Amino acid sequence: MSDAPRTTMETGVAATDLAAATSRTVQAGTPILRAESVSKWFPVDEGLFRRAHKQVRAVDGVSLDVFPGETVGLVGESGCGKSTFGRTILRLVDPTYGRLFFEGEEITQLGQRELRPLRRKMQIVFQDPYSSLNPRMTVKQIVGEALQIHGLAKNARDEEAQVAELLRRCGMRAEAMTRYPHEFSGGQRQRIGIARALAVDPRFIVCDEPISALDVSIQAQIVNLLQELQEERKLAYLFISHDLKVVEYLSHRVAVMYLGRIVETASAKSLFERRHHPYTRALMSAVPVPDPKKRTLRVLLEGDVPSPIDPPSACTFHPRCPRFEKGTCDVETPELRELTPGSGHQVACHFPEDA
Ligand SMILES: Nc1ncnc2c1ncn2[C@@H]1O[C@H](COP(=O)(O)OP(=O)(O)OP(=O)(O)O)[C@@H](O)[C@H]1O
Ligand SMILES: [Mg+2]
Repeated sequence: MSDAPRTTMETGVAATDLAAATSRTVQAGTPILRAESVSKWFPVDEGLFRRAHKQVRAVDGVSLDVFPGETVGLVGESGCGKSTFGRTILRLVDPTYGRLFFEGEEITQLGQRELRPLRRKMQIVFQDPYSSLNPRMTVKQIVGEALQIHGLAKNARDEEAQVAELLRRCGMRAEAMTRYPHEFSGGQRQRIGIARALAVDPRFIVCDEPISALDVSIQAQIVNLLQELQEERKLAYLFISHDLKVVEYLSHRVAVMYLGRIVETASAKSLFERRHHPYTRALMSAVPVPDPKKRTLRVLLEGDVPSPIDPPSACTFHPRCPRFEKGTCDVETPELRELTPGSGHQVACHFPEDA
């Protein structure tokens, strides 16, 4: 990593200052990614629900723009549809409803062949850099593969030089090229995963909990690397994370998801200053607990998340909500709307707090 002095996580600069400094400039022009009322429902293939032809409403009518150079944080409890949304907007799975646009062009209906040139521009970095890197390939093959698929290297020597440079930029030595993923630590593997994503010179990267599986001491390094790369390349990120501190630090804007829907969205500064949705409040005040299965921290709220197969009526948060009012919250679905016109801070709640 570069030794140049810069604002890093460790310096303790208030994240909100950072977001405020940049948020005004990043939301300009055409969004790199636009999701319009996107839903992803999966058919249930087990038990009673299958016979009833039920669907898992993993993502249910999400609209979101991401602008060039912008980081949009996506937060919410486990199972609320964050990863499914990330995969759907990259067209790794097909949306059930809604429309997707990339750099202003509609991509909802594009076939795999037509999507190929776009695959270069949109990449994904996963949580577990071990299972997402082929254990039988050397680092050179892993990073070089992307260059080959898209014909980005003139010859073998050029490919090697490009891989070495990508690794260097991601804080790895060129010697890493001949080694295999298992020979590296989690943090180094994530650097390799980032180098692979970067190989095709993307414009937009979905980062799906890229630091959740890493030791806390390593997390800041990876966050800082992502931030440096964003500045250098004007990259846009959808940053999915359970870690609200990191989301606040890294994001220009944040969207809070509950049971497949966005319940609140605002600039990071605005959202962390005042949360209007009772769910956002609960999420932010909940104490994260270790989740041994995923080696990550999980946020626990009162009560269980209802099943996305049979979600509660109207506002799906109503059974867990301290502000629930019978006859309204269970009957009328709240629209995402600005409380203060022009603020960009939107909330989907009939009785928002602090209104
Ligand atoms: N391929 C699939 N088939 C059926 N259901 C699925 C599929 N993928 C995801 N789901 C369901 O969709 C819902 C959303 O899952 P998703 O993985 O997107 O949540 P998440 O917010 O990323 O959770 P986590 O924080 O645990 O990663 C869950 O109920 C999940 O079980
Ligand atoms: Mg996920």
